[in-house]
Amino acid sequence: MKIFIDTANLEKIREVNSWGILDGVTTNPSLIAKENTDFEALVGEICKIVNGPISAEVMSVKASDMVVEARKLAAINKNVVIKVPMTEEGLKATKMLSDEGIPVNMTLVFSAAQALLACKAGAKYISPFVGRFDDVGEDGMRLISEIMDILDSYDFDTEVIVASIRHPIHVTQAARMGAHIATIPYDVLKKMFNHPLTDIGIKRFQDDWAKVPKK
Ligand code: E4P
Repeated sequence: MKIFIDTANLEKIREVNSWGILDGVTTNPSLIAKENTDFEALVGEICKIVNGPISAEVMSVKASDMVVEARKLAAINKNVVIKVPMTEEGLKATKMLSDEGIPVNMTLVFSAAQALLACKAGAKYISPFVGRFDDVGEDGMRLISEIMDILDSYDFDTEVIVASIRHPIHVTQAARMGAHIATIPYDVLKKMFNHPLTDIGIKRFQDDWAKVPKK
């Protein structure tokens, strides 16, 4: 499974990239707003750090405007993927952009039916939001399982990005379901990394090693 980081913060992207496990980055308007800097310049900086798909979202409502915005973003770097919301206009834009060879990440997916339409429109990626779905009393991981069943039955080129991840169990469940990608916030990546028994084990080995006679 590929691992993306879900942030627009350059420091966090640099740090996680240095671990050697990072395959891409997703941003969204809220994450961009937190950085308080020029959007396109920030996307360009992210592309310099990570050599993989970098999602940047269009804000227009009409398909034709989304396409104009997307072309501008796609010109920043060959790795830019255009995030398009799951609406009727978004579907039209996805089809137009995909036909032009511009990869689309269809975002805010909350049902298997939406996922199917996004695949049909040619989306390279779809982003079902598991955490936000859990928040309204639904089962985010069941949604992933339904989408994976559909993808297993046909030969769409679409990859599933499990998004809105809240804890490491979301990540391991996604991996067990064969989801292609998980986009993970920095704090969840750190939680995946840490384990108290690892820390205790290291301390015990260090303490015992100190007792070994040295030449
Ligand atoms: C996906 O690409 C989104 O940026 C993201 O995962 C949103 O998740 P949130 O529910 O944590 O805002």
